[in-house]
Amino acid sequence: MDRLQSLIRGEIGGTLFSFETIDSTNTVAMELGEKGASHGTVVIADAQTKGRGRLGRVWVSPPGVNIYMSVLFRTPLDVRHGGLLTIMAGVACCLALRDAARLPVLLKWPNDLIVRDKKLGGILTESKTASGKILFAVIGIGIDVNMRIEGSPPEIREIATSLLHETSQRHSRTTITAAVLNELDRWCGVLTSGNHSRIIEEWKSNSSMLGKAVSVAEGRQVLQGVAEDITEEGMLLLRLPSGRVKAVSTGDVTVLG
Ligand code: BTN
Repeated sequence: MDRLQSLIRGEIGGTLFSFETIDSTNTVAMELGEKGASHGTVVIADAQTKGRGRLGRVWVSPPGVNIYMSVLFRTPLDVRHGGLLTIMAGVACCLALRDAARLPVLLKWPNDLIVRDKKLGGILTESKTASGKILFAVIGIGIDVNMRIEGSPPEIREIATSLLHETSQRHSRTTITAAVLNELDRWCGVLTSGNHSRIIEEWKSNSSMLGKAVSVAEGRQVLQGVAEDITEEGMLLLRLPSGRVKAVSTGDVTVLG
């Protein structure tokens, strides 16, 4: 904890709450947000008993191996730009991991960190809003660091990877956590300055999917098309077989080729 604190350079992670086991770092960070905790407060846990993923999924969170953390974000942002928080966090995680673990990490819309077509981590952003503004948001980040993929349940083995699996070496969770928080600090600054196009540009240049045929599942609806672009609000622009371009705000993307 002290070592992590000593590696933090900016506002993000200036206040840190560290737990051995909690239900979900996002839940605790949302509670802290309600109580007025300051921008950049970070909640970290060694294990989660109710780790949450997007679309109501469970985020498997065993002890001692991975990173589970949530960052409280307070900056005036319109609700319509809310999707940018996940996009911005994706950029920060991608660049930090590339640098700290020397791995070709890519981004899949809206929230996946991808290495060689497998999921290395994900982002879950939750927020409290009023009158069209985001009062505060919690950006939850899960990164599989030293988890053995071979020992995982089949449903995880098929889609997930870890830094250990990709590099055949263990990584310091403290070093990776600090790298992500410091990079987040930088990109939060870009977001706060209103330079949204800089974030989108960086996201696009690290995308694993733009220009490719994809399917996007949202509930029972599945759309197919070419992932053409990301809007300034963080929406995916999908070119449908009819030639029409549809803006998609949520869903699960599968890259088809
Ligand atoms: C996803 O890809 O579905 C998003 C996964 C987000 C997981 C992280 S782990 C830390 C934080 N706490 C949670 O309960 N979820 C997020």
